[in-house]
Amino acid sequence: MTAKTLPVDTFDLVIFGGTGDLALRKLLPGLLRRYADGQIPEDSRILGVARDRQGDAEYRAKVGEALARVAAADETLQARLPAFLDKLGYLALDATKDEGWDEFATRLLATGERIRVFYLSTSPTLFVNICDRLRAHGLNTGNARVVIEKPIGHDSASAAVINDAVGGAFAESQIFRIDHYLGKETVQNLLALRFANILFEPLWNASRIDHVQITVAETVGLEKRAGYYDTSGALRDMVQNHLLQLLCMVAMEPPAALQADAVRDEKLKVLRSLKPIRGEDVAHLSVRGQYRAGASSGAAVPGYLEELGKPDSRTETFVALKAEVDNWRWAGVPFYLRTGKRLAERVSEIVIAFKQIPHSIFDDSAGPVMGNKLVLRLQPDEGVKLWLMIKDPGPGGLRLQHVPLDMSFAEAFGVHQPEAYERLLMDVVRGNQTLFMRRDEVEAAWAWIDPILSAWDNLRDAPKPYTAGSWGPSAAVALVERDGRTWHEDTV
Ligand code: BG6
Repeated sequence: MTAKTLPVDTFDLVIFGGTGDLALRKLLPGLLRRYADGQIPEDSRILGVARDRQGDAEYRAKVGEALARVAAADETLQARLPAFLDKLGYLALDATKDEGWDEFATRLLATGERIRVFYLSTSPTLFVNICDRLRAHGLNTGNARVVIEKPIGHDSASAAVINDAVGGAFAESQIFRIDHYLGKETVQNLLALRFANILFEPLWNASRIDHVQITVAETVGLEKRAGYYDTSGALRDMVQNHLLQLLCMVAMEPPAALQADAVRDEKLKVLRSLKPIRGEDVAHLSVRGQYRAGASSGAAVPGYLEELGKPDSRTETFVALKAEVDNWRWAGVPFYLRTGKRLAERVSEIVIAFKQIPHSIFDDSAGPVMGNKLVLRLQPDEGVKLWLMIKDPGPGGLRLQHVPLDMSFAEAFGVHQPEAYERLLMDVVRGNQTLFMRRDEVEAAWAWIDPILSAWDNLRDAPKPYTAGSWGPSAAVALVERDGRTWHEDTV
């Protein structure tokens, strides 16, 4: 089966940071796939912008090398690669200097009025410069869109500065704040599952749901991002955006329609309903960890401090939190969140754990009756499992078993699961903001994160050590076990 794609309108896409890691690993491969799928019109153009001095040909050669690796196992991608590279151009520009901007504007405006996407895949410190210059050169036309990547600030105040600067040049309807987790197939499937089925919504509340778990575990360490990561840490890098966005998708009320503001209004209400974690509460509602030397994917790996070369860093590489959404639907239902680097496995999943049955008709010999669970696997092996109690097949008494009704998307649909950036980039061109964060969402998320950060600062204790390749500090296990619960483990 092949996925159906509708072509988007012709566009010019400018990637600031066009020689960077994100451009080469995610954006350009994603665009190549969309092009090979027939979604990008032939007269569209992609312009890489960075400080390095090089011409179009040199840039194409560099990108071509990176994309040849992406296309290695795919004949269609290989066949379309030369034509894709023809669409690429390059311009050397320094966002902090005037030089070159006239030429840049002339080159872009030469194609007349068309959709222009400015993707700021740069350090956030350049956002203000770039946006000011785009405005000064008349490039913030009605058909322009600007895409900004996280981190959008490191707290509420700095996020407001960035949002003001970008907002000074572009209207909110032109600003696309990307959270690539929202582009993952299974995250969008959560919308389908919740709102295209009658089964779940009546049960989707505190009277039927015991708790929710959201895990985003990674096996990688610093990956050459030490400079950024050490000033960020897991709470800012992952929880403020990805995990809170997932929480919103689980907890929001049904929007009236699948329209950008209808969805974002509902997510905002969730963020604003999060019960603050302040002062001494952090000690029993949060766990910070930092990995020590251990093993990852079978190989010995150094600890965070050695990898960083800075023995006194207190940056957390793991965080677990017990969050609560303080509203009518979710009163008393904990949302346990955890994320970390150098964990035992790369797995991202959302677990909806339902309450126990009120009364059991079965003898003890049948075994325990476990609560139903709905598990959405974001990656790898995208799919949905619904854990049910069934009778153990065969004669010899009635024994119960907890087994999953298992739907693997790869097996069910057999299509290539598009990478998050593929969908999101096409949504930007189409002007669809549903899967992007609005300014007030980003700020509400920071408003919940800020007090946790300052409470950690006041505690002045070091993050708890954990061995690389484990599931994080034992305190994270205790965080859920104190409530008589355990982290979900997939046993089938
Ligand atoms: C990024 C974080 O936003 O998400 C990284 O900055 C993290 O630290 C990455 O590794 C994880 O994304 P994915 O799609 O690989 O789960």
